[in-house]
Amino acid sequence: MTTTVRIVQWITGIVGLGALVLGLMFWIANIDLISLHRLLGFIVAIGLLVMSLIAVSTRGMRVLGLVGVVYAIILPVFGLTQQTLLVGDLHWLIQTIHMLLGIGALALAGIMGVRYVRLTRAARAASQVTVPEPGR
Ligand code: HEM
Repeated sequence: MTTTVRIVQWITGIVGLGALVLGLMFWIANIDLISLHRLLGFIVAIGLLVMSLIAVSTRGMRVLGLVGVVYAIILPVFGLTQQTLLVGDLHWLIQTIHMLLGIGALALAGIMGVRYVRLTRAARAASQVTVPEPGR
């Protein structure tokens, strides 16, 4: 499972960076690659969801996993509706929240990946500790 977690963590990170760049290109330079951006965003949401489900089934990470599941639902819902929110002078607020939500999703997936690897490593080390026999 550690390998799966590492692969999902990598894919989510790289694809998320791509989504961030495309989003910023749209925002700053008006280069409209939003369809591709949406696709990358969905991959990020799925990556976060997979990671969160693994976390939910791992002792010591269940709460973080639940937060991740909710986050993985909010991210695409907000992304798909944001164009209709606060249209006008204050739309930058929505755009900023959307960008921070996106970066937050990447951070959360990263944190879960690191924590999962650390927990499984600690569990493996603990299972290898040999108890000295009495009288020796
Ligand atoms: C399913 C997930 C996502 C969907 C459906 C989505 C959708 C969108 C849409 C429709 C826009 C254009 C909004 C407008 O016209 O004002 C946009 C812009 C943007 N997105 Fe995403 N996005 C998603 C995920 C992400 C992620 C993961 C990031 C960052 C890592 C991100 C960063 C941005 C940025 C910086 C912009 C430009 C500012 C803005 O308009 O909000 N998005 N996104």
